[in-house]
Amino acid sequence: GGPFMAEDRNMAVVTCSAPVNIAVIKYWGKRDEEAILPINSSLSVTLHQDQLKTTTTVAVSRDFKEDRIWLNGTEDNITHPRLQTCLREIRRLARKRRNSGDENCNTFPTVSYKVHICSANNFPTAAGLASSAAGYACLVYALAKLYGLEGELSEIARQGSGSACRSMYGGFVQWVMGEKTDGSDSIAQQIKPESHWPELRVLILVVSAERKPVGSTTGMQTSVKTSPLLKHRAEKIVPERMKEMTEAIQCRDFESFAQITMKESNQFHATCLDTFPPIFYLNNISRRIINLVHKYNSHHGETRVAYTFDAGPNAVIYTLHQHVEEFVEVVKHFFPPEENGGHIRYGRPRYPPPPLVLP
Ligand code: DP6
Repeated sequence: GGPFMAEDRNMAVVTCSAPVNIAVIKYWGKRDEEAILPINSSLSVTLHQDQLKTTTTVAVSRDFKEDRIWLNGTEDNITHPRLQTCLREIRRLARKRRNSGDENCNTFPTVSYKVHICSANNFPTAAGLASSAAGYACLVYALAKLYGLEGELSEIARQGSGSACRSMYGGFVQWVMGEKTDGSDSIAQQIKPESHWPELRVLILVVSAERKPVGSTTGMQTSVKTSPLLKHRAEKIVPERMKEMTEAIQCRDFESFAQITMKESNQFHATCLDTFPPIFYLNNISRRIINLVHKYNSHHGETRVAYTFDAGPNAVIYTLHQHVEEFVEVVKHFFPPEENGGHIRYGRPRYPPPPLVLP
């Protein structure tokens, strides 16, 4: 909805949520650090609103003395350059709209008022679970609502965090790399809405909730500088895969969707290993999950599940609803739950794995 305004019209508040997106064609590498322009297009699935998400409240008031931000309950640094870029760009749009003579926005909320931002995730921050994607998408969307802005906002979200532009849309979303130097054609587009493929499911296997040792931004900088594989991938492999993946989604061809997804994940982590010095995001548990998925699929003689890993060891599993129950049982069998003071914790693999009989 629109902004909630206090009686005296001195304060306006908006609260929004934005879900995480999980890339099946990976973004890794920028051609322009400042504007956040990628070296290849990418494609992702935006999760459902009630799963992994960021919730952000933005408020403007005549009484606020300065812009401020709180992340997960703790005040954070408002001078962060990417945050400043998003605020500046949104305010620029708001002024533009006001100056264009649109009567409705001549009055309130006043662009010169300071803003307070309060943002929280319902999942571990910076553990390679796309927290910055949901975070910036949510911030840009909430601010846009506050000032009554519409239109192309993914360009602004992109300048917060590249992958954030894809969380501006639901369902199946591509981030077109674009060609222009000003970045105006480097935007997100929805390929298909969520309703297009209702059987598709996403499982998140949290291997570790710790902060990742190398962040995406610096990781990809080193990769761009040092990895010949990354350059080859961006120029020669991704363009073709974007087409194949789009087709697989359009036809709801899970077999192709799953195979491209796994190959993409593997190639992304291969470029991390090709980076110098190398970057390791996967750990032994991640690799055991990869093996398990391949064994499970070959047991059934068809591709029923796919894994993908971003800048961390946590596995994201894509599957179809009819396979969820069985696959979860298989995961629990090989990674049995441990009782720990009432908390159930999955994770430590069982050595040696006991035999499992599948139908
Ligand atoms: C591995 O969007 O976090 O998740 O643009 O520097 O903020 P910045 O990087 P970010 O990178 C995400 C990388 C990835 C792959 C992907 O989501 O496409």
